[in-house]
This record gives sequence, structure tokens and C-alpha cells, in this order.
Amino acid sequence: MSIRRYQAFGLIALLVGSALGGGCAAPARPSIIPLPAEMELGRGGFDLDDGTRIALSDPADAELRRLANFWAQPIRAATGFDLPIAGETDEATSNIISLHLAEDAAEHPEGYRLTVTSASVTLAARMPAGLFYGLQTLTQLLPVGDANAWSMPAVQIADAPRFAYRGMHLDVGRHFFPVAFIKKYIDLLAMYKMNTFHWHLTEDQGWRIEIMKYPRLTEVGASRAETMLEKNFDPYVGDGQPHGGFYTQDEVREVVAYARDRYIDVIPEIEMPGHATAALAAYPELACTDGLFDVPTTWGIKEDIYCPSEETFQFLEDVLTEVIDLFPGPYIHVGGDEVPKTRWEDSAVAQRVIAREGLADEAELQSYFIRRIASFLRAHGRRLIGWDEILEGGLAPDVTVMSWRGMDGGIEAARQGHDVIMTPTSHCYFDYYQADPEQEPLAIGGLTPLDTVYGFEPIPEALSPDEARHVLGAQGNVGTEYMPTTDDVEYMAFPRMLALSEVVWSPRDARSWSDFVRRLPSHLRRLDALGVNYRPPNLPPVARS
Ligand code: ACM
Repeated sequence: MSIRRYQAFGLIALLVGSALGGGCAAPARPSIIPLPAEMELGRGGFDLDDGTRIALSDPADAELRRLANFWAQPIRAATGFDLPIAGETDEATSNIISLHLAEDAAEHPEGYRLTVTSASVTLAARMPAGLFYGLQTLTQLLPVGDANAWSMPAVQIADAPRFAYRGMHLDVGRHFFPVAFIKKYIDLLAMYKMNTFHWHLTEDQGWRIEIMKYPRLTEVGASRAETMLEKNFDPYVGDGQPHGGFYTQDEVREVVAYARDRYIDVIPEIEMPGHATAALAAYPELACTDGLFDVPTTWGIKEDIYCPSEETFQFLEDVLTEVIDLFPGPYIHVGGDEVPKTRWEDSAVAQRVIAREGLADEAELQSYFIRRIASFLRAHGRRLIGWDEILEGGLAPDVTVMSWRGMDGGIEAARQGHDVIMTPTSHCYFDYYQADPEQEPLAIGGLTPLDTVYGFEPIPEALSPDEARHVLGAQGNVGTEYMPTTDDVEYMAFPRMLALSEVVWSPRDARSWSDFVRRLPSHLRRLDALGVNYRPPNLPPVARS
């Protein structure tokens, strides 16, 4: 059956459904997060029962079948219904959930149309990603947890994301988290239609990815003797507990495949030229000074960075060659943030590079460093992404800037014609406090409550419409200095990630804080069911909108 026939059928069924449902109280608006672009409520609803079947527009399409199973498995577990997946039959007119891939189903490659009537559910998309997002919405139309009746309200939804880049970051360098947690995190991203996981794999305090050519990166760089207690820099107090861990290349491949199954790209971050002490502990010859390094047990910015020697570039290209092999996505993140230049100022090697390349100063040397790596990545079919410090000394061609020290770096990069991801500390740093620090677990600082995240607007007014097209989206960042456990990460990331999901997915004008607040409690129940240790929001009275 063609999609048009399905749509016509859906419309008739919706009308019939309304007639049948006449006289019932108006149903509550469904609590979908992120809010769909367009949604119209019908009358009545669709009841899932032991006769409900799933039909596919092309039963031979392996991805369609995988998606149907992906959705049905947890629903089967929750409801006890079989939900058999069948081929499409023209006689089947009721009690079916049909999944359609059709060229004319949606304009946007991530968009979908969902029609729920009392007779059937029809989900159609142009691309499988759209179906995936439609299925997330479908799940959110069903009750949470144990229910007596598995009903969803009659509704017509036409949905597509506002931004192409919808990201969440996780720092596993400051604290290591096991693969099982990384998968849980990815599951939660997928539920809320986020499509990028920025996996921050190397830091001063730990190197977390196996590199075959340089085994000491993980033999030495993946563990530290202990961790500073709270903020006891001076006098220093350590916790006396060794901390470490890394992901084998097989585990990395497993995570990347797990994410791909959920339409999530993984961007690895391999930090350079700063935030590299763990690598220098493993290979001290890559530093500008003689001497041995320990993997640091304190937080903060470290002065020892990679020296811009040919040996360092060879090392980094070797590392990136293995990284490129593991991560199929278009972007490789190379950090570039918080790079003190003192070691380069005092280094004969660094000064020779400055003279040889005709560079003005150490800022231009950092730019030279990033340009070299950018052209290496480009030659291997990848694009470099870096924190906004990569603007200093001049941006390399065709690199993408992650604007974190506010929006200015992003504005400048967009004006220069570069793509930008907005991640300003003011709205997107989920390591900041979410309420009065006196009442909260120790955090790095700042204050970014839920409504501040919700109020974020990734497109700065300063940009012209042409420049604004370079803002690909936004991302929430989770630096884990003060998050030693997965419970801590969940507490800091949720529900703030839900607020961000609406910022990056929903139409700007449709966003309403008061409506988000109305929808949030049912999601907290979903997070409860999944064992997520979110911070219970003490929601303000529903006043602002
Ligand atoms: C950063 O948070 N240092 C990019």
C-alpha cells in the first residue's frame, strides 16, 4: 500500500475515531519531550492488546525489521503482548502499527509523521533515522511502567529537528566509567532524540583509549595514584585510592556500533596540545622539558603540553590513524583548549618551529599545530573540531568550532564561514551547580539551573541569517572532576539534558517553560523506571512561558 493510501486511510480513521470517541472528556496533551514540531490531538485512542500486529512497508528491508524489533522488544517485555512483525497485508485495516519508509513521507531526513487513531498507528519517514525518532515518540505516548491499559491518545504528529547537531559530551578522563554505563548514557540520549555523543577520551588525569602502537598510553597513562579530595589543592589532600581504566579497541567498536544502532554519531576527543599530561607520563620525550611526569591527581590546567617536534606530530598522526579506524563519523575532536604557552616560550624546539614557519608568536604556533593536524585529518577524509581556543592565531581552513567560553568564539567563527557548535558554560555546562551550592553535592562551580538550560537560544542575535546557518546546533558538556560515580553523572546530566533536547529539537517559538514543566513529571517516572539517578527538580510555580 502506498504512503498516500495510508495517509488517506489514517485521516478517515481519525474522523471515524473522533465520531466514536465523541462525548468523552478531552484527553490530556501527551507529555512528549522534546516537543514535536506539529501535533494535533484527536479523539479517543489506540489500545495495544494481544491482537496488535506490526506491519512493515517492506518486510525484506533489514533496517526496518531491526527498528521494529528494537521498539517492540521492551514494549513486549512491559505489556506481555506478542506484537508479531508481519509483512503488510492489504486486508489488515485495524489493530496494526505500520512502519513506512517512503520518499514522500517527510522532507527532513530525520523527520517523521505519526498518526494514531483508534484503529491503527501509522509511522512514516523518508529515512530510517526518522522512523527511529518516531518510535521514540510512540513510546512516550504509552503509559509509563506498569499499566492496566496500554492506550495511546489519538494524535497526528509531523515532526523534524530544528538543528542537525544535537550533542551530549562525557569526560571519561577525569573519571573512568564502564562500557555498560556508556551504553546507558547513549540509550538516554537516543530517547530524547540527541544524535551525537562527544566521548572525551584523553585528559591530563587519564588516557582512556587503547592505542596499539603506543601501549604505554594505557599501561601508564590510564591510571593515577589517587585523586585530590574535594578542593584540597593547598594543602593538598588525596583520597589514597588509585583510579584508572580504559576502553579496549574492541570495546570502542562495540560502543560505536551501539550508538550507530541508535542513530548517534560518536565524536572522540583526543586532546592536544594541552590537557596531555597522562600521555606525557607514558612518553615523556613528547614534552618540551626533560623529566618524568606522573599522571596528575589534581584538577586544573597543567603547564606541560606536547612539544611541537616532528616526533610529537608522528606520534599524534599514528594515534589519530588508529582513532580514525575506530570512529567512522565525520568529526574528530582534538581539544585545543586551555593551553598555557610557558613551556613553548622556553623551548628551543618550539622557538625553532616559530622561526622556521615565520610565526609571530606562540599563539600562532598553536594555530600551526592545529592546522597540521587538520590537514592530516582532511587527507584521511575527516574534519577537525576543536574548542574555541583554536581561533587564537588564526583558524585552520574547514574546521568546526565548539564555542564554550560563551558565544563570542562561535560568533566569530561563523562570521569567518566556519561551522559552529554552541556549548557556552552559561547554559550548557552540566558540571555546574543546578541549585544553591549549599544544598547540593560539591561541583566545579557556576550555576546553571534547569530553566536556564531550557531558556538557551543557540542562534545569537548578532548573526545574520547567512552566518546563522553555520550554527549546526548545541551540546551539553559533562566534565567529571567532581563526579566519581555514574550516579553523580546522572544527577548532574538529568533532567538538564531533557531541557537541552527541546532547545535543539523543537521549533523556537513552540518552546514554553510552563508546558515543559507540565510534561516533565511523566519523564521523571520514565527515568525512575530506568534507574536514572536524576536530580529531582524543585520546579518553580508554572508562571513563566
Ligand atoms: C573545556 O571545558 N575546557 C572545553
